[in-house]
Amino acid sequence: MRLFCGLEAIASEHEPLASHTHFGLGGPARWVLRPRDESELATVLRRSRQAGLRVRVLGRGANLLVRDEGVPDVVVRLSAPHWGRIEFSDGAVTAGGGADMHRLVLETVRRGLSGLERMGGIPGTVGGCICMNAGGRDGEIGELVRSVRVMDASGCVRDLHRGELRFAYRRSSLAGQIVLAVELTVEPDDPTRIKRRLREVWKYKSASQPLKAHSAGCIFKNPPGMSAGRMIEQVGMKGRRVGGAEVSRTHANFIVAHAGSTSSDVLRLISRIQESVHERYDVLLELEVEVW
Ligand code: EPU
Repeated sequence: MRLFCGLEAIASEHEPLASHTHFGLGGPARWVLRPRDESELATVLRRSRQAGLRVRVLGRGANLLVRDEGVPDVVVRLSAPHWGRIEFSDGAVTAGGGADMHRLVLETVRRGLSGLERMGGIPGTVGGCICMNAGGRDGEIGELVRSVRVMDASGCVRDLHRGELRFAYRRSSLAGQIVLAVELTVEPDDPTRIKRRLREVWKYKSASQPLKAHSAGCIFKNPPGMSAGRMIEQVGMKGRRVGGAEVSRTHANFIVAHAGSTSSDVLRLISRIQESVHERYDVLLELEVEVW
């Protein structure tokens, strides 16, 4: 424990990660650290760097596949209360990087504030959603961002304004940084209308996606102008299994992990899908989920 001496209260060794992910799969992390504020986070980053250890941030594990062998790294979780705060001001809401996206959506809707309905049914932390510019057919979160407070690998904090940030399809310029807090634009609207829109988003998703199963949402990005889900269905892969991993029959861009599944099952199924789609369409589907 010398590496994190003085931080014993927030450090754990060889911690299994499976239960921290929606897939429910994967091995342990060499270290998991749960810093309680910015200064503790900076200490964790500096000590990891000195020891030559890689740092990864784990949000709610909603878009993540951890390999069966786990990771020899330092995994940071922003799960302490400090990172979950949500504050409202004129025309904006500020949320900590570890805040739960679902809670943020419900709190803004409850206050009659519009904008975040597009994130209905998207699981994750606010920081994770911002880094990958999460969204769907109703819009992406990047469109709402006013500013982001980030920490880099050396522990330096910066406040970045909209003009200094880049958001693209499931991508942002924030890769490699830790999102500490985000300020988002929200607008007052008729509460009944906002609730109706949120219900519509929910209805669409629960009818077209296997939301109750163990999955990581969409596995692949949509290639420009195409739908990965439709392509996978067209090559006849719906319901195809490797071990306990199955291509969802509800939405072909979801892989569902049944009891007994391993991460290698999922990875082998991913390769088979990529091969079949490549053979038929000459397109290499790019992963949307992160693999550790
Ligand atoms: N489709 C099929 N077969 C399938 C699935 C879809 O033919 O098995 C067809 C649908 O009928 C539709 C088209 O493909 O005509 C697009 O499908 P859908 O509306 O479900 O949207 P998507 O492009 O597959 C995107 C996001 C989802 C998000 C939904 C809804 C990506 C990769 N996926 O899916 O995001 O929930 O829109 O807003 O951008 C995620 O990021 O994890 C995710 C699930």
